[in-house]
Amino acid sequence: MAKLLIEGGNRLRGEVTVQGSKNSTLPILAATVVAEDESVIHNCPHLSDVDTAVKILRFLGCSATRCGTSLVVDTKSITCDHIPDSLMREMRSSIIFLGAILARCKKARLTFPGGCELGARPIDLHLDAFRRMGVTIREHHGDIICFADKGLRGANIALAFPSVGATENIIIAAVKAKGTTVITNAAREPEIEDLCTYLNACGADIRGAGEGTIVIEGVDSLHGTSHTVIPDRIVAATLMSAAAVTGSDIVLKGVVASHLGAVIPLFEEAGCDIQLSSGAMSISAPQRLKAFPMIRTTPYPGFPTDAQAPLMAVSTLAQGTTVFVENIFENRYKHAGELTRLGAKVKTEGRVAVVEGVRELYSSSLQAYDLRGSASLAVAALAAQGVTVIDTTKYLERGYEDFDGTMRSLGADVKMI
Ligand code: EPZ
Repeated sequence: MAKLLIEGGNRLRGEVTVQGSKNSTLPILAATVVAEDESVIHNCPHLSDVDTAVKILRFLGCSATRCGTSLVVDTKSITCDHIPDSLMREMRSSIIFLGAILARCKKARLTFPGGCELGARPIDLHLDAFRRMGVTIREHHGDIICFADKGLRGANIALAFPSVGATENIIIAAVKAKGTTVITNAAREPEIEDLCTYLNACGADIRGAGEGTIVIEGVDSLHGTSHTVIPDRIVAATLMSAAAVTGSDIVLKGVVASHLGAVIPLFEEAGCDIQLSSGAMSISAPQRLKAFPMIRTTPYPGFPTDAQAPLMAVSTLAQGTTVFVENIFENRYKHAGELTRLGAKVKTEGRVAVVEGVRELYSSSLQAYDLRGSASLAVAALAAQGVTVIDTTKYLERGYEDFDGTMRSLGADVKMI
């Protein structure tokens, strides 16, 4: 596995186009299974998680061919309805295929995605919803065996928590169900809207995407379409963090500012100047930032949990103290211990982290534990004196396309070895 070597101290400059959204690409690739012919999905980032989704599609008997940043998927000849444990374990969010396989095959067999670096990752909201839609589910030694001989039926589903994955899974399962499905307390993330844009272009009838209540009228069949995935708002927030922590001026192209409504004001309050113009953002950071105000992660449109780790890296060098409250996942501060190895002052207690800004960070050898935590370590290393080594890039490659190449194009001294 490759390591990442970062020599800190360089100011960044130039411009970079933000990649397509991982968390939009993955549910849309799953949803192609319900559209019974060819779809072309553009702006798909080159990521290991996307590669895993392609492997799952091929395992199911679909064809999936990459042409640059486009994926041509044909699900006409789907041959099987189960996903092997090896693939389920490769990517927790492979559970997102369950609704699609059920909608297409009326039965499915997967294994529990299991816990991951962020915590338990339960799927009770997914399974409870499918039971209400007429699916019989047997859980046996880690296997999930589902069948709905009479097909899925529409249902009223009130989510106890606005789960992104559960909302997506229910939408995908409901597009061909008999009758109407109403999801209340639905997740409102932009990736949900992007999924519904794709499915409606395939002939689905979904209203209310991006709001708390989504109504899906079941239709008889769906056809393929071509769709361009929205930009990745978390990668954009990570690049903003890289600019802020190095006192740099950079331009991000392909940014949807409205997807960063809870992020942009924080950087402005910390002293950055941010200018937005038709799909581009320029961010200009001061030599030293003021500490962010308290950051609480909440479902969209609040502050995204995935941006907590990158912004924590920025806060380690800011003037003042920043308090984080991580309300979404129970174990999402693993990067804090590694940041202290660089000289940061971070204390965590349950869901709360307190970061007291210091003047300097010093290089060290660090361990990566999860995707956004890895990004946090890389961002902090950009501003640390000396060469920092991050022990593995396997997590980073799940969500950041060509991270080292992108950072080098902005003038950072980053090598993958
Ligand atoms: C999606 O994960 C994203 N992944 C995550 O991004 C993101 O952090 C998360 O949404 C929250 O925004 C993808 O889209 C592929 P959830 P998901 O269901 O769907 C609990 C990244 O770094 N919950 O909204 O798994 C769960 O334990 C990744 O790109 C249940 O209790 O998130 C968690 O505490 C990390 N029961 C909370 O809800 C369930 O059935 C949020 O989970 C489902 C979830």
